[in-house]
Amino acid sequence: MEKKIIKMMLLFGGVSSEHEVSRVSAASVLEHINMDKYEIIKVGITKEGKWMQTEADAAAIADGSWEEMESNKDVYLMPGAGFAGLDVDVVFPLLHGRNGEDGRMQGFLAIAGIPFVGPDSTASAACMDKAVTKAVIDQAEACDQAKCCVAHRGCDVEDAAGVIDQFFDGEYPLFVKPANAGSSVGISKVKKKEGIPEALQVAFAEDDKAIIEEAIVGREIEVAVLGNDDPQASCIGEIISANEFYDYVAKYDDVGSVTSIVTDIPERLQQQIRQTAVSIFEIMGCKGLSRVDFFLREGPGGGYDEGELVFNEINTMPGFTKISMYPQLWEASGIPYEDLIDRLVELALE
Ligand SMILES: Nc1ncnc2c1ncn2[C@@H]1O[C@H](COP(=O)(O)OP(=O)(O)O)[C@@H](O)[C@H]1O
Ligand SMILES: [Mg+2]
Repeated sequence: MEKKIIKMMLLFGGVSSEHEVSRVSAASVLEHINMDKYEIIKVGITKEGKWMQTEADAAAIADGSWEEMESNKDVYLMPGAGFAGLDVDVVFPLLHGRNGEDGRMQGFLAIAGIPFVGPDSTASAACMDKAVTKAVIDQAEACDQAKCCVAHRGCDVEDAAGVIDQFFDGEYPLFVKPANAGSSVGISKVKKKEGIPEALQVAFAEDDKAIIEEAIVGREIEVAVLGNDDPQASCIGEIISANEFYDYVAKYDDVGSVTSIVTDIPERLQQQIRQTAVSIFEIMGCKGLSRVDFFLREGPGGGYDEGELVFNEINTMPGFTKISMYPQLWEASGIPYEDLIDRLVELALE
């Protein structure tokens, strides 16, 4: 019997500070997907927000030259009726950050009536907003988190610095981050009170809400979660940053940053970390996929055998190049990249 070819729209780019990262993720999917199973409809979104169907290959998508192709065609999404003139079974919105990972696109696709990979609009929005995520996880008492407070654009940043300094009892360093951003864009590590106003301005350039956190000293570990009603967690990954913290340069430009699989902590603790990752995925209402990121603090007696887990953030559309953490964690857990894509599409169609 001939197997049905799935018509999958791969959406990439987007009006987001993570536009470039998305293009590289999409190129990787194109290079590795099983072409016998799928007909791929490639649709790019420019930084200005224009949608175009393109025949560009993976290289042209990765380097951005796809935008110049004369054969590109406009794309129209219709409420309740999918894409005008295009037959699409499922959309893979491989978009990171604002407008792609924050629930807007998910709501838009739901209104159009098309299944898509990843969590729905509510879960996506709640996971994108670090202040909301923290409140939900705190309420559920699912995991320890860094002490934090929130500031809104429009506040007097000098006054805010005084309030923040008091809130943290004059303890530094602090991390100041936009509530809604990703790829470390807009994040500052602040070492004294005088640095707070500028760090707030930097964060407010990305979002109208900022969160301010105590700095956690520990290992940075990440777990991949996959599934709908019975989500599974992968083995545990670790990031060893080349820079003082895992900023944009350390993530994408600096070859000195290393990601690896964690094996040097007791199985019992690994199990606890995996379980916590699944709980967080469920509490946030995620479906399909997410990557759950933690810090592991040294235990009371030193070392990590009794390490303390601190939840940092959850990403509903994590980086998806073949060497990104999410696919790597599944490779190491026995699901190769190609099969992972199949699984995500199945979960979307479920
Ligand atoms: N409270 C914190 N303590 C220590 N390091 C932090 C803290 N918050 C963020 N960082 C560092 O900054 C990086 C980016 O912050 P993160 O909250 O993960 O935002 P993004 O969504 O941009 O990835 C982290 O990977 C970590 O290296
Ligand atoms: Mg992060």
